[in-house]
Amino acid sequence: HTCTWLQGRVTLYKYQGFWNAQNFPKKAILAQSYEAQPRDVLLCSCPKTGTTWLKALAFAIVTRKKLDEVGNSPLLTTLPHDCVPFLENHLEKIKENHSNFPILGTHLPYSSLPKSVIDSNCKIVYIYRNIKDVIVSYYHYIRELMKLSVEEAPFEEAFDEFCQGISSFGPYWEHILEYWKASQERPEVFLFMKYEDLKKDPTGNVKRLAEFLGHPFSIEEEKAGMVENIIQLCSFDTLSNLEVNKSGKYQADEHFALEHRLFFRKATDGDWENYFTEEMKDKIDKLIDEKMSATGLILK
Ligand code: A3P
Repeated sequence: HTCTWLQGRVTLYKYQGFWNAQNFPKKAILAQSYEAQPRDVLLCSCPKTGTTWLKALAFAIVTRKKLDEVGNSPLLTTLPHDCVPFLENHLEKIKENHSNFPILGTHLPYSSLPKSVIDSNCKIVYIYRNIKDVIVSYYHYIRELMKLSVEEAPFEEAFDEFCQGISSFGPYWEHILEYWKASQERPEVFLFMKYEDLKKDPTGNVKRLAEFLGHPFSIEEEKAGMVENIIQLCSFDTLSNLEVNKSGKYQADEHFALEHRLFFRKATDGDWENYFTEEMKDKIDKLIDEKMSATGLILK
């Protein structure tokens, strides 16, 4: 499928039910060779749902004991995607030094996860977000990647494509549904987190995440303000203003690099209201009601 709203600069291909770039099948097949350890934790998501934020929080939580203070965190000098690499992008680096990466990230759909991840019962944290804000975030991200202005990239067309399920790792709802169905069978290894919940109650959710990761905060740590320090360290304000995230470049694979700043845009809740007509809102709400009704997950 050639994305007309991007002036034909992007072509997506459907592979095992999900849309992606041409080189994706190769990456998905290579990822199968990953030998997961039972202690591995995978942070799974569709793009633009809060992946970067979740990676930063999980990394800060599991590495906090090694730091004298949060002020020494590698997150201050390294993009969260380099602290917690994507399995499908950096397999060789991970294999070479597995113990350096206590947590991994992936956008792979559940059905494409390496078999060893399932067999080893690895813990999986899945983050999702209101679909309307995901659409707006995705629109700007790809538009900027392709160096197109808002005038050159009509939002209405991007919206229609997204509703047809055509987006990187889309259909978005199918991605969520696969993980959700798996979580019904093995609830003990799954934690579902919602971007909006993290925003509303960061303390409660960071504590929940830490417990799930097997690194709960002690009473002493809580008293010392460790939870708040981590939230502050991983906040949009802190991360987006770091030199590394303003000027660095992320090498996703040998052909594709992008600026770190593209992972940090606005980070607000409800930006969709600035883009959606009433008709668009009704269309997406209806679609998502149909797709998600069985799950109890709220995406609108
Ligand atoms: P917006 O485009 O709505 O601003 P992902 O990390 O999955 O690619 O998602 C990117 C979205 O998360 C962007 O949303 C980005 O601004 C937001 N984001 C990045 N870092 C964040 C942080 N530390 N806290 C909250 N939101 C963050």
